[in-house]
Amino acid sequence: MRILFALLALGSLLPLAAQTKKANGARWDQIYLNPDAKVPVNPSTLVLETTASLKPGAALDVGMGNGRNAIYLARKGWKMTGIDLSEAAVKQAQQEAAKLKVEIDARAGDVQKMVLGRERYDLIVCTYVHMVAVRSAKKFIDALKPGGIIIVEGHHAEAQALGLRPVSGGPAGYLDNQLLHAYDRLRILRYEDRLMQAEWSNGPEGKAPIVRLVARKE
Ligand SMILES: C[S@@+](CC[C@H](N)C(=O)[O-])C[C@H]1O[C@@H](n2cnc3c(N)ncnc32)[C@H](O)[C@@H]1O
Repeated sequence: MRILFALLALGSLLPLAAQTKKANGARWDQIYLNPDAKVPVNPSTLVLETTASLKPGAALDVGMGNGRNAIYLARKGWKMTGIDLSEAAVKQAQQEAAKLKVEIDARAGDVQKMVLGRERYDLIVCTYVHMVAVRSAKKFIDALKPGGIIIVEGHHAEAQALGLRPVSGGPAGYLDNQLLHAYDRLRILRYEDRLMQAEWSNGPEGKAPIVRLVARKE
């Protein structure tokens, strides 16, 4: 009987989780469809700096949004796959890629539910997609080829105290050294935890507590 109750409880939770994901996608749709929303369009500085010396290969942009990083990388010769919860964002990325005549494989979906496979990517990018980089760390590490690089950037949890709303829903921002621990199987090439200009959701003075990680699978 107890098992039956447990199964019933689980059964009622699963559709709820699916609805929440759908609601999250719809919430992001509203942001991407709002012409007044301050959605960044230029590629991430960390992506520019990190990839400047890399030979293009297969890359995955997790929570790619409007494709600002994916399209930049595709133009540099990377074979890009981009995944995002928001169908509106995926459509914008596809339209922009078509306009610029570059190819990206852009898909709508929840990366946390997707199978990414093993040793498929030379590069994984995860900018301002809070907590996915922590929750899916093992999956991302498995999906990197040996020598592959992961780039993560996002708000530190302290951003909440400054009144900055988490832009990605869920627990807001990375805790002290949380990304370092999540990727400690990799060689950490760069780690920063400092007040700087955020690319999404800045504080009143144009700065926010930001965490950045670049790591390589040896
Ligand atoms: C703040 S935006 C960042 C977009 C892009 N990475 C950038 O830096 O411009 C966060 C994005 O992550 C997406 N996202 C959040 N959770 C996700 C998930 N579990 N799977 C796929 N996309 C997700 C949202 O739909 C949203 O487009």
